[in-house]
Amino acid sequence: MAGKRHSVHRCAECGAEHPKWAGRCEGCGAWNTLVEEVVQRRPGAPAGRRAASTPSSDRPPVRLSEVSTERLPRLQTGLSELDYVLGGGIVPGSLVLIGGEPGVGKSTLLLQAAARLEARGVPTLYATGEESVEQVRLRVDRIEEDAGRVLALAEVRVDVVIAQSAAVGARVVIVDSIQTTYADELEGAPGNVGQVRECAARLMRFAKASGTAVVLVGHVTRGGMIAGPKTLEHVVDTVVYFEGEPASGFRVLRAVKNRFGSVDEVGIFEMTSAGLIPVANPSAAFVAGRSAETAGTAVTAMMEGTRPVLIEIQALAAKAGFGTPQRVATGLEQKRLAVLLAVLERRGGFPFHDLDVFVNVTGGVRLIEPASDLAVVAALVSSVADQPLPADAVFLGEVGLAGEIRPVGATDRRLAEAQRLGFRRAFVSTRTKSHGQIELVPLAHVADLAARLAA
Ligand code: TYD
Ligand code: MG
Repeated sequence: MAGKRHSVHRCAECGAEHPKWAGRCEGCGAWNTLVEEVVQRRPGAPAGRRAASTPSSDRPPVRLSEVSTERLPRLQTGLSELDYVLGGGIVPGSLVLIGGEPGVGKSTLLLQAAARLEARGVPTLYATGEESVEQVRLRVDRIEEDAGRVLALAEVRVDVVIAQSAAVGARVVIVDSIQTTYADELEGAPGNVGQVRECAARLMRFAKASGTAVVLVGHVTRGGMIAGPKTLEHVVDTVVYFEGEPASGFRVLRAVKNRFGSVDEVGIFEMTSAGLIPVANPSAAFVAGRSAETAGTAVTAMMEGTRPVLIEIQALAAKAGFGTPQRVATGLEQKRLAVLLAVLERRGGFPFHDLDVFVNVTGGVRLIEPASDLAVVAALVSSVADQPLPADAVFLGEVGLAGEIRPVGATDRRLAEAQRLGFRRAFVSTRTKSHGQIELVPLAHVADLAARLAA
């Protein structure tokens, strides 16, 4: 039986222990480095010894050749895109973190997963510290899943969540969210780093000891500030982020760490009035209803993991009013837009300095690859020239600071996807080699763009 628990504050820099919280560590003098943690005194153990943070096993060492390499069993949720991103399903005994901004759809996604797991005979507990069970029921009524069998628990004390999970024999436990969960022994408020880490550590021990899979929801604030969840990334087995512009229906699920699979895969969903629906053919969804006859739109193929996905980029350049011209980028890094505008101005002779510029990536997708530079640049040039781009063309290329257009990775896969959706031409770098059938329009420099478009 474990001994009495109490808490101390430990400096994250030098490890010095303090009985009470202080702004400054007495050991090393660093500011704001104290994190509260639980100390467990086992009978007979020397006072002050830290509780083991990882489960220990009494088994002797084994030869690796004798370790079974049978595939890990997986609990499939039946939500195809979620299973795909997790590497085939949830691994029993694993700890998964799903991070995302408030309102993106984390609770909806996990309730749908819970409903499907129950339907497959996997006992699933949904523990919420954010809503009452009545609110959960209301949400369940909206989604088109039969979630009636899911066990819901409105609880914020981590030990109670664990005890109840064990009592009902749940094989999957969803904790929504880790920021509202707390350990009694710690004085800090739920959501602070000490609480988040201690609760996650206890849930990890429970998962490993019982073989129950635990899924944690972690809120992430806009701008990438991930105070709580970030500190958990090294503790948990799998980290998945759920992203998307709230105004758009599309959501992207992306694995950033996976001890049981690859982190290359992404899943795409659409948020509808009846919950999240996996999008099986994202390219078709993203370029559907495209305004090809309008100046300022260009299509590119970006890689989402190992899958190419076509997306449309829209640009609008308009005469600026007084003061500094506006630069507004949605789905694209503001800095990348500034770089591309500077390159167009200095290397291509396109005047943008007195224009307001707005760039938007449709579908609420975020462009992170430089491979889409050429499409952004083409959309901008098309908007200034007030001349639509060829409707059957895609644009693939990275733009360098000298204005040169460089080839991109996975060209063949991107081109094959473009061809599948009916595109017949691809504007690419002169150094691009392709084995596909799509016609290539080679460009060496951004200055060639205007000439090529006029032709
Ligand atoms: P939610 O799952 O509560 O987000 P999170 O847990 O990440 O904070 O989803 C919130 C939004 O999703 C909310 O604005 C309403 C919307 N929504 C739908 O559009 N359709 C639905 O079926 C449901 C349940 C929610
Ligand atoms: Mg929620």
